[in-house]
Amino acid sequence: MTDTDLDQMHAAERPKARPRRFGAVVIWMHWTTVVLIVALFASALSIGLAANGDQADLLLTIHRSLGVTTWIVALCRLGWRLTLAYLPPFPETMPKLQQKIATLSEYALYALMLTQPLTGLAQSFARGRPFHLFSLAVPQVMERDKGLVHLFSQIHEITAWTLLGLICVHVLAALFHRFILNDEVFQSMAPWKPKGLHR
Ligand code: HEM
Repeated sequence: MTDTDLDQMHAAERPKARPRRFGAVVIWMHWTTVVLIVALFASALSIGLAANGDQADLLLTIHRSLGVTTWIVALCRLGWRLTLAYLPPFPETMPKLQQKIATLSEYALYALMLTQPLTGLAQSFARGRPFHLFSLAVPQVMERDKGLVHLFSQIHEITAWTLLGLICVHVLAALFHRFILNDEVFQSMAPWKPKGLHR
């Protein structure tokens, strides 16, 4: 169907253009995750600066609680994405290979968001002490195992920086779309509704 055919059609008969923005639930969960990840890095990196043991314990409880929340949100996001979510099409100008890389990097982010809390949790269990998630007391489930604490601590640290690196690439790619390519990719996930963008 050409543009002229479309122009000659009655407005009601025209096929509706696919919305350029992600669905509201996807956008909401995306920005909730951003807030959670910022708080997770801030709380983890502040532990070393705590003035005393009580402050360090509180920061670690905040970190653990937000980490488990992130895991639940990531699982819901993935479930929603694979079932009911509305995902706008990539811009027509975007090469297929680039589209594949973008999708792959999004799944890599999901994989890291889902494994990171598990290695944190494993580290906390291996310490062999009860701990708190929000106000919920999690009992000791095993004797302290120094080797496992070290192993999970290393994995947790390496994947945290990998996650941060991937997030930086993700943000740079979004800014590249916004300011260099001037397409609608950035606006499609903006928390506000940009003027002139369909839906
Ligand atoms: C996406 C989720 C998470 C991110 C991005 C994250 C990130 C980090 C980072 C950057 C550190 C500092 C580096 C390190 O020592 O490993 C850290 C430390 C730690 N995290 Fe996580 N974390 C997450 C989830 C969790 C969860 C769910 C738990 C436990 C329930 C947890 C427990 C810990 C512990 C015990 C430490 C060591 C803190 C210390 O003793 O100094 N993390 N995390």
